Amino acid sequence: MPKQRIVETNEGIQDVLTVEIYDQFSKNMRDKGWNNVDSFIMAGIVSGNVLEIGPGPGYAGLEWLKKSADSTLTGCEISGEMIKLAEKNAREYGFEARTNYIEANCMQIPFPDESFDAAFSNGSMHEWEDPVKVFNEISRILKPGGIFFISDMRRDVNPVIKWLIYFLTKPKQIRPGFITSLNASYTVDEMKSLIEHSALMGAEVIKDFFGISIRGKKTAL
Ligand SMILES: C[S@@+](CC[C@H](N)C(=O)[O-])C[C@H]1O[C@@H](n2cnc3c(N)ncnc32)[C@H](O)[C@@H]1O
Repeated sequence: MPKQRIVETNEGIQDVLTVEIYDQFSKNMRDKGWNNVDSFIMAGIVSGNVLEIGPGPGYAGLEWLKKSADSTLTGCEISGEMIKLAEKNAREYGFEARTNYIEANCMQIPFPDESFDAAFSNGSMHEWEDPVKVFNEISRILKPGGIFFISDMRRDVNPVIKWLIYFLTKPKQIRPGFITSLNASYTVDEMKSLIEHSALMGAEVIKDFFGISIRGKKTAL
């Protein structure tokens, strides 16, 4: 039985030092190809006007843009410090004109209904105060037929894998945060129940060796 969930924060990563350390970690994950970009594409998110939730330093979305010509990306990010970093990284990728990062809480995404062709998020869900509200928002801002893909860690991971990943996590300073994030993440059963109580009802909840992902398509009303 996994331990009870311990809420982390809904304030995001705000502090400048933490943001810099997180940037190094996220870059390492990008270099290993461990940020789920291929899963976004396999889910069918291949082009369009796309929303990324909790982009942090932005590498997942920026790598996706590299594989998706003519697309645009909007990042909804709660931390102003992360936005500065994502904007700097977008400039370095040469994607300034194709990206727009806005400081907002994804529980109230500041865009009209049916604004986006698709939405994705990686590694952010465990920080959302009320995931059901975010799922409802994702459904609201997607056009009919819009695809969504959300990935995160899961609390019911095998302890051997948990500690293996802990010791592989670099830089070392990120390791305590890795544990608090894992403790705040959801089990597969918890996630299935949350999805069924949201506007994303019917979405697939998929378990992999370390994480959890949710994928589906907004059906026309
Ligand atoms: C652990 S980081 C993941 C960053 C990035 N997606 C990655 O794959 O490395 C989680 C990000 O989600 C953001 N976040 C947390 N809660 C949020 C919310 N309610 N609305 C928008 N962004 C949020 C945090 O500020 C942080 O940048």
